[in-house]
Amino acid sequence: MIICIGEVLSSADVEEFCARLEQVRFLDGRTTAGWAARGVKDNAQAAADDPLAEAILARARRRLESHPVLAMAARPHRFGPLLLSRYGPGMSYGRHVDDAIMGGIRSDCSFTLFLADPAAYEGGELVIESAAGEQGFKLAPGHLVLYPSTTLHRVEPVTRGIRLALVGWLQSRVREAERRELLFELDTARRRLFDERGKGEVFDLVDKSFRNLLRMWAEL
Ligand code: NI
Repeated sequence: MIICIGEVLSSADVEEFCARLEQVRFLDGRTTAGWAARGVKDNAQAAADDPLAEAILARARRRLESHPVLAMAARPHRFGPLLLSRYGPGMSYGRHVDDAIMGGIRSDCSFTLFLADPAAYEGGELVIESAAGEQGFKLAPGHLVLYPSTTLHRVEPVTRGIRLALVGWLQSRVREAERRELLFELDTARRRLFDERGKGEVFDLVDKSFRNLLRMWAEL
């Protein structure tokens, strides 16, 4: 399941992040790519030891960890590294699959949190491949796209302006994407049922099924 989640960061957060990012030290992004992806990666990343970048990432991490829709869609167990990336004109990240293990976590879900206004740059779509074809994403600032780390994906060349984004990975409590999707839909249905009809016999059965499936599949 690929899902777009709105307003993970407020517009005030985004504005502050983008202003601070102008003073952050950026390095060649190839340093954090796996050996096969290194040849197709051409972007810049905030230096991990830059204190301004650290402060931005710490705040972004808190927003990600507390977001209710992200929690339902990904069932995060542990978040892995977060990277601030910048693509100027001519930069891109060719077709690749993310490393399976990163910073001590198994990458089950990948995400891109867009920071730059889409009108401020051309190109730079995140393109995700699936059996049904390709899907491109270029979201409003503060919005996030979450997708299975098992997919081939790329970032199209930026032809004008600057594309700023935060990318990251997480290990889910539910390893299989199909199971995460089923739980997300069942969880959504039981919450709607509760909102519309309150707690009743039907809700209790759906609620029981949801909890017992999660119990069956959850890794601790
Ligand atoms: Ni990637």
